[in-house]
Amino acid sequence: MSASFEAMSASQKRSFQGAYLRYLKSRDGVPDRDARRFDVRERFFAEVDAAPTCWVGAAPVDQRVFDRNHALRRPEEGLDEVTLWALATAKTNRAERYGVEYSITHEAAPADAPNDPHTYIQIEEFYHTRILKDALAALGLTAEVHEPSFFTRVMVRAMVHLPAGVANVAVLSGEIVGVTIFTLLLEKARVLFADQPAALARIEQLFAQILVDEVGHVHFVRSQLGPWQLAASRRLVPVVLRSLVDDIPELERLFGWERLYAHATAADVDAAAAACPDRFVVPAA
Ligand SMILES: [Fe+2]
Ligand SMILES: [Fe+2]
Repeated sequence: MSASFEAMSASQKRSFQGAYLRYLKSRDGVPDRDARRFDVRERFFAEVDAAPTCWVGAAPVDQRVFDRNHALRRPEEGLDEVTLWALATAKTNRAERYGVEYSITHEAAPADAPNDPHTYIQIEEFYHTRILKDALAALGLTAEVHEPSFFTRVMVRAMVHLPAGVANVAVLSGEIVGVTIFTLLLEKARVLFADQPAALARIEQLFAQILVDEVGHVHFVRSQLGPWQLAASRRLVPVVLRSLVDDIPELERLFGWERLYAHATAADVDAAAAACPDRFVVPAA
């Protein structure tokens, strides 16, 4: 069985909490919850902002085609893979972003925010939206992140108000599906942008940040759950994937349902960030 659904013992949970918080502090630096920023991460983004576009030659996606389709529930027929990739990338974090935005405005701030992993996870999700916009900027595209569908908004709001022990079952499935989508989008980028080394290098850097964060989120949520909840979360993965794909049909056009399903249900999240030296490694029991 995938490590993503393995229950931790009480002593493992304790050592995990300490190790993960130390890791977040060294990776992100000091959190600023109001500005939704980390001091350490801002240095990297200053470099990105100094040279946002990395594409050499004519832009690979027509901004007007992109904008028109971004506003549609289902993309037009006949779009090329680069345009589908750009649309999927623009849409892929919107449910998470909506959930974090909603929970930040509807929940009290943690009593000890600088020592609570939730603080870091929430701010990391804000960075993910920025990262995906920067990945599109590397291709010369500008994009605003829209709200997810009505159904997704209702589901996300319900999760914020449910007891943590129930909500985290769905949150874990969602984080695992997220790792699948980002992994497959990065693999596709390597094929599509193989002849644009500067743009691909930027996309690799940006996606690595997301993958490393998300793998940490998976293990953190796992550390909050017991065996029955983990089993339920595992069964929920295909349901969460189906609803995400209904919301982002570009994903099915790019990868096909079978590939998405196989990747998400394998739930091998540690493989996703295996090549990243800054990844979080769960401490041994
Ligand atoms: Fe995320
Ligand atoms: Fe996440």
